[in-house]
Amino acid sequence: MTTTDNSKKYLKTRIQRVETVAPGYSLLSFECTPPLTGIPGQFVMIRGAWGASPVLPRAFSIVQAGNIGQVLVRDVGPGTSLLCNMHSGDELAVLGPLGNGFVEPKSTKAVLVAGGVGVAPLVFLAEKLAERDVPVTFLYGARTENDLPLKERIENCANLIITTEDGSIGTKGRVTIPLKETLQDQNCVVYSCGPNLMLEAVGKICAAAGVECQVALESPMACGMGTCKGCAVVRPDGSFTYVCTDGPVFVAATIYGGEK
Ligand SMILES: Cc1cc2nc3c(=O)[nH]c(=O)nc-3n(C[C@H](O)[C@H](O)[C@H](O)COP(=O)(O)OP(=O)(O)OC[C@H]3O[C@@H](n4cnc5c(N)ncnc54)[C@H](O)[C@@H]3O)c2cc1C
Ligand code: FES
Repeated sequence: MTTTDNSKKYLKTRIQRVETVAPGYSLLSFECTPPLTGIPGQFVMIRGAWGASPVLPRAFSIVQAGNIGQVLVRDVGPGTSLLCNMHSGDELAVLGPLGNGFVEPKSTKAVLVAGGVGVAPLVFLAEKLAERDVPVTFLYGARTENDLPLKERIENCANLIITTEDGSIGTKGRVTIPLKETLQDQNCVVYSCGPNLMLEAVGKICAAAGVECQVALESPMACGMGTCKGCAVVRPDGSFTYVCTDGPVFVAATIYGGEK
């Protein structure tokens, strides 16, 4: 995994557009001069000019790099709610790109497995892989048909397979059901981002099938750059790893076990 470390300074920028892409989800576009240089799996820390509270910035996966950066924000608390309610022209402070990123497959097919807002870095990855003509199967799991932000962007660059827990669209059930079928062809690499329990299940299915799997983890983050030590995750051998500097992308077996 590549670490790009050219970015330990907040960029003062402005919001270009805030678009509601599903109930409770906003796609935030912001101007970047110089252009944001991130790769899929890397993230940015963002703080709005919202006064004293919340004091800390919030972490978001990069959906698009370049002159216009993009992040997908799920409204779950004070910071994300403020961001979802910002407007074109509002000030923003952005630190990044941070962390490592996904290692792209050399010649094989890619299977992307997303749950909830974990779709964000995988949309970026799917679009990059499509530019290189790498065949992508995108397994997208959600609670209902209303929880599938950026679905149309995925349809444009990948073979999209949807599962919903209530069966309102796609196959009823969890995203791990089509994953098992897809892995009958082992000539692929799996990339996943979503809730921790989903990532663990995906990692274990891939380990059992003998398929390489990379997961992008989330953990509470105060600094995003190795200072606060708040993002520690315990490995199977009891040692610590830090999501912001060692990750957020890890080989699944190093986090969930099954390493050879
Ligand atoms: C590397 C990384 C990438 C991320 N990418 C995205 C993204 O693309 N889009 C997005 O909407 N969110 C993303 N997150 C999560 C996002 O940072 C949190 O949802 C946000 O900080 C919550 O802030 P808040 O003030 O709205 O809510 P808070 O009051 O801080 O939290 C609200 C709830 O979310 C939980 N929570 C807070 N932070 C996290 C976290 N990091 N992981 C899991 N649960 C958390 C809290 O325990 C609480 O239950 C990412 C986090 C990390 C570490
Ligand atoms: S978020 Fe501060 S050390 Fe990782």
